[in-house]
Amino acid sequence: MKSIVILDFGGQYAHLIARRVREAGAFSEIREAGTPADELKDVAGLILSGGPASVSDSDAPKGDSKILELDVPILGICYGHQWMTQELGGKVKPGKTKEYGKVEVEIQADEPAHSVSGGTLLNIGYPSFPVWMSHGDEVIEMPKDFWCTASSGDCGIAAMEDTEKRIYGLQFHPEVKHTTGGDKIIEYFVRECDAERWSVEDYEKSITEEIEKQVGDRKVFMLVSGGVDSTVAFTLLDKVIGADRVQGLLVDTGLMRKNEVKNTKEALAKIGFDNLHVEDASELFFERLDGVYEPERKREIIGNAFLEVQAEVAKELKLDGPEWLLGQGTIYPDTIETGGTKHSDKIKTHHNRVEEVQKMIEAGRVIEPLKDLYKDEVRELGEILGLPHDLVWRHPFPGPGLGVRILCADEADVGRKTSDIGSLLPIKSVGVQGDGRTYRHALAVFSDNPCEVTEELWKQSADIPNKNQEINRVLKCTSHAEPVEYKFTPGFINRERADLLREADNIVYEEMHSANLYEGIWQFPVVLLPFGASEGQQSIVLRPIESIDAMTANSAHLPEKVLKQMTDRILSLDGIDVVFYDLTSKPPGTIEWE
Ligand code: XMP
Repeated sequence: MKSIVILDFGGQYAHLIARRVREAGAFSEIREAGTPADELKDVAGLILSGGPASVSDSDAPKGDSKILELDVPILGICYGHQWMTQELGGKVKPGKTKEYGKVEVEIQADEPAHSVSGGTLLNIGYPSFPVWMSHGDEVIEMPKDFWCTASSGDCGIAAMEDTEKRIYGLQFHPEVKHTTGGDKIIEYFVRECDAERWSVEDYEKSITEEIEKQVGDRKVFMLVSGGVDSTVAFTLLDKVIGADRVQGLLVDTGLMRKNEVKNTKEALAKIGFDNLHVEDASELFFERLDGVYEPERKREIIGNAFLEVQAEVAKELKLDGPEWLLGQGTIYPDTIETGGTKHSDKIKTHHNRVEEVQKMIEAGRVIEPLKDLYKDEVRELGEILGLPHDLVWRHPFPGPGLGVRILCADEADVGRKTSDIGSLLPIKSVGVQGDGRTYRHALAVFSDNPCEVTEELWKQSADIPNKNQEINRVLKCTSHAEPVEYKFTPGFINRERADLLREADNIVYEEMHSANLYEGIWQFPVVLLPFGASEGQQSIVLRPIESIDAMTANSAHLPEKVLKQMTDRILSLDGIDVVFYDLTSKPPGTIEWE
């Protein structure tokens, strides 16, 4: 299929651009900035993404200059626009001041108009409109044959194009929602490209043929986690090659949500598939995690135990012969990230790409039917396949399950300072500041009305981690009006803690639903901490998140009534006597606590 290729110059924006192109009805793929022009001969169009570097840095990412001679429409965005300007003989000035945020641009309309859309890319119907800028450098001299199509107060050449060659440059970001009409701009560019129409429904048809071809007369064995991706992949395989040639395995790790195993089985049974084997391996997982406190080690143990159980069951059910392929629910962002884009930092190991699986992929024994889709597209496909709406629109849930939400520590870590507005918790959690990870304390704030969060506190919660080196999160205690003397009990992952968290997590799920908040919240981790207000008791953190892609996030504002209801019900659980509400954005916090 002729696709529009996004060359990734290192920003966080490449996936966003790829999604917008698909929304505009063309298939998109992300490739590395330096991909040789030879490999791009058959594309329908090229988009050069933004990136954090300056074109004048010696180690700045570079493209193959020959791509600019390919006879296809090209759109350079931010860094991509500057790189292309320089390659084509224009000039880029290293910027002293950074232009960041919403900026008004004005259309320069006195030049020739053209193109199939009846105007330039910016012909979206406004003489001036707000766009999202984020740059230091700027283009000060255009290459030959280009004309300027828009300017802002600080940036003379905010947009330019060579109409004949169909090469377009934008200093601003059309892919972010803050740019008015950004979706139209991308749509116009897509129209210029000779791309085939693309939609999830078309994808289902083309992937059906591909699956049939790849599987041939073999069969597929598939790990189903209960999550959206693997459930949709499993259903798709069932439908294409027939349930008698697919065997699903759901490993109950003991770290699943309440009723997750039951609900998954029921949803599949309802659309006619009963080829899912459930293996209760919780005992093995708890055994392996006994006495383990370190987060990455926990992830590794859980990932390995998964594979071990899978191999054992495969042997038992005789699914390990050469006629069996391994099915996985890997989706596009995972494919790209583990394919190793040079600039991304490996923060968490992805269980779909551990060494053993990698070897199987090389041997052609793995099938990943969703590997080209984004999450929302997987969900759309799930609905087309007949899975229940509630199941396919469930919040994302981390692979290691509740395992990363049972905070483990073998001794209290009480921090040096206390702040005048609250007290530090006796544990640390993970955060992210600048490009790196932090491991710091959370500050808990108390007030007479525990479930109320004032505007002032929201503001402080953003300021405090910036000003205090020791703190990366700010919480409101919703169970107590006065500061608590924390009593710490060493804790690792065991069945008792998992069961307790499962109940608290389920209360939150129920309350979110009954307050009609579920669809507006992106993800809602509930975290168990190994200390409470009295001996042997523990605490719960509520972490509701608003986000688009998990790269950045805000704490979702919960109504006081809902907070109170959640807090009261959680406090009624045996073993919990403190509840907190995490107010922290990402950065400086991460979504999960470990
Ligand atoms: P953080 O905590 O880094 O999380 O802000 C970003 C997103 O990633 C999910 N997450 C994981 N997913 N395995 C997964 O499959 C993991 O080990 C893992 N850790 C975090 C997290 O839930 C959020 O959506």
